[in-house]
Amino acid sequence: MRFMTLGDVNTVLKIEQAIQAYPWTCGNFTDALNHGYECRVDEQDDEIRAYAVLMPVLDEAELLNIAVAAGQQRKGLGRLMLREILNAARQKNTRRVFLEVRPSNIAAIALYRSLGFAEIGIRRGYYQNDHDKEDAVMMACDLTSSKWSDAGKGQER
Ligand SMILES: CC(C)(COP(=O)(O)OP(=O)(O)OC[C@H]1O[C@@H](n2cnc3c(N)ncnc32)[C@H](O)[C@@H]1OP(=O)(O)O)[C@@H](O)C(=O)NCCC(=O)NCCS
Repeated sequence: MRFMTLGDVNTVLKIEQAIQAYPWTCGNFTDALNHGYECRVDEQDDEIRAYAVLMPVLDEAELLNIAVAAGQQRKGLGRLMLREILNAARQKNTRRVFLEVRPSNIAAIALYRSLGFAEIGIRRGYYQNDHDKEDAVMMACDLTSSKWSDAGKGQER
């Protein structure tokens, strides 16, 4: 895993547009980079396979985006990426990480739960879809808990 750069944005955007129903724009990624958020990519043989964006807020953080390229899903990359970005945050003394996810996104919710995220609430009508709104499930992960620390141990590459 390495830091995302502005030069990666076009590639990341292609992956994003191929897999997300409501993809981030180029501006979303460049803003995240320019604000100094934790933007990481996983790359193999010069090919970006996954990325994640985490926004630090004092001793907490918000996971804004995580995605794995279409042909690379269900190989453990999403879990690896999430675990590594949480490990990096924990080393910078981040205590809790929050996120919002569509209730329909079964894959992402299962991934988040597997690394210690728990549901903490619902934001009504958080997502604007084409014709209606969709609620968001709010989740949080306590990075100080021994459960997560043990799960993350030895996973940094
Ligand atoms: C969510 C996402 C990042 C998961 O990445 P991945 O590399 O495919 O996931 P992994 O192979 O690491 O799997 C980790 C866990 O996630 C869950 N999971 C992943 N894909 C799943 C699917 N299609 N159905 C159900 N559970 C799934 C499983 O619990 C899995 O653990 P298991 O393999 O031990 O059963 C990927 O599906 C993705 O990029 N989706 C589109 C973007 C997105 O929705 N991002 C999240 C919101 S921003």
